[in-house]
Amino acid sequence: MFTASAEFIIGAVDLIASFLFLFGLQRMSSPVTASSGIGVAGIGMAVAVLASFLYALNVDQVVKPYLAQNIALAIVALAFGGGLAWLAGKRVAMTAMPQMVAIYNGLGGGAAGAIAGIELFGDKYDGAGQLCVTLLGAIIGSVSFSGSIVAWAKLDGRLKKPTRFKHQRLVNALVFVSTLAFGVAIINAVLGDALRPVSVSALIYVFFALALILGIMLTLPIGGADMPVVISIYNAFTGLAVGLEGFVLQNPALMIAGMVVGAAGMLLTLLMAKAMNRSITNVLFSNFGEVSAALQGQIKGELKPTAASDAGIAMRYAEKVIIVPGYGLAVAQGQQKLFEFVKLLQAGGVNVRFAIHPVAGRMPGQMDVLLAEAGVPYDMIFQLEDINDDFASVDIALVIGANDVVNPAARSDKSSPIFGMPILNADKARQVYVVKRGEGKGYAGIVNALFYDDNCNMVYGDAQAVLVKMIEAIRGLGLPAAA
Ligand code: TAP
Repeated sequence: MFTASAEFIIGAVDLIASFLFLFGLQRMSSPVTASSGIGVAGIGMAVAVLASFLYALNVDQVVKPYLAQNIALAIVALAFGGGLAWLAGKRVAMTAMPQMVAIYNGLGGGAAGAIAGIELFGDKYDGAGQLCVTLLGAIIGSVSFSGSIVAWAKLDGRLKKPTRFKHQRLVNALVFVSTLAFGVAIINAVLGDALRPVSVSALIYVFFALALILGIMLTLPIGGADMPVVISIYNAFTGLAVGLEGFVLQNPALMIAGMVVGAAGMLLTLLMAKAMNRSITNVLFSNFGEVSAALQGQIKGELKPTAASDAGIAMRYAEKVIIVPGYGLAVAQGQQKLFEFVKLLQAGGVNVRFAIHPVAGRMPGQMDVLLAEAGVPYDMIFQLEDINDDFASVDIALVIGANDVVNPAARSDKSSPIFGMPILNADKARQVYVVKRGEGKGYAGIVNALFYDDNCNMVYGDAQAVLVKMIEAIRGLGLPAAA
């Protein structure tokens, strides 16, 4: 057992780690402090790892003979995993962030499941209560692991179509009930001593296999477009599983970190669902984005292309411009050019602001991060509720790489899958320019009536290439900057 002082030191280090997690999370609530928040939480993670090493160094005689070997293995795993994550983090494109989050989240769930496996196979839990918690963590962690891998494959374009078949929900329910039944069988076998240990192991194997299959089965039918919400749900699952295993291991840092991740994931899921005006069950069980053809016929008007240079010059002579960035801006990596263009407008005395929809892009906060990356000052960036009424009084709304978040069907068309989703009122501006490559749909897979409106012109092309042309056009005017 530990000496009192060792126990005190490990407890104190755990407490510091937990405090850093919470403080880091609190700083992530504002774009101004978010990146330092990530740093603080990262330091918290390093401190938590240190606490685990201190624990291992002080643990009782049973583990001592393997100590050197275990520490060496842990260091190799840390160096390998940390190195790989560092490389991947450096290389990942902004648009590939959701799949990266998916895979890391899945690994967290898998780690929680693996801890549960070690506890179960090693017979290490302490009584019926801990056994139940271990099993619960095992199911949730395994579902999150296999489900997140399917989510990653969908987001990365490796699994193209949702897999749906007859009676799918019934089959999923059967897999779920069977997993629970094997969990109960394990409890019976262990506590009631009803089976020989080899049979208990067999039960545990089947239990894990079923939990992993459940994660795959639950995620397969969901469309790739709904994956961000699904990842957020699995994020909550992973947090919960980690928290439960923290309880089993009596590790406070793991408990607190797990519960914080679980709660944050759940809140995020609810916020995303609310911003899309969809229920979680609608995300999980309905087929979003398959109604486009029917809606196409109802649209009146025509698409009116215009040259990038004309749009750029019109904005240079405007008084007020609101820019609505969307997923396509991230795809084009056009944020630097966009800010260069905005600075030219500002030099000409144009009042320019950015309007951010809560689910613009494919990840919460993606547009804020994109603009911050380009150095756009935070006081130019406005969230939907703070700027939506102002569209009616601006000369020009520039919609760049956005689609669904400005689709007026959300206001009026009850048959639209995005009906009820709050949208940015770009259509209320005197003139709207929409920058996109062609007639590609947005995330919801539906046509956008705004593009056909009388006050709307399309500027076709990759967002970055269009911005370069707009910048050249304004520079070509050779105008002096406004006083
Ligand atoms: P989208 O509706 O997805 O529209 C993006 C548009 O960008 C497309 O119509 C595409 O048209 C254009 N585009 C793509 N690449 C481009 C490029 N290189 N240059 C210029 N344009 C390009 O984006 P949004 O308005 O940001 O809406 C986000 C959607 O994602 C919403 O429906 C939201 O519910 C959903 N969603 C978001 C989240 C979060 S948390 N952000 C989570 C889940 C779901 P072309 O192909 O014609 O270029």
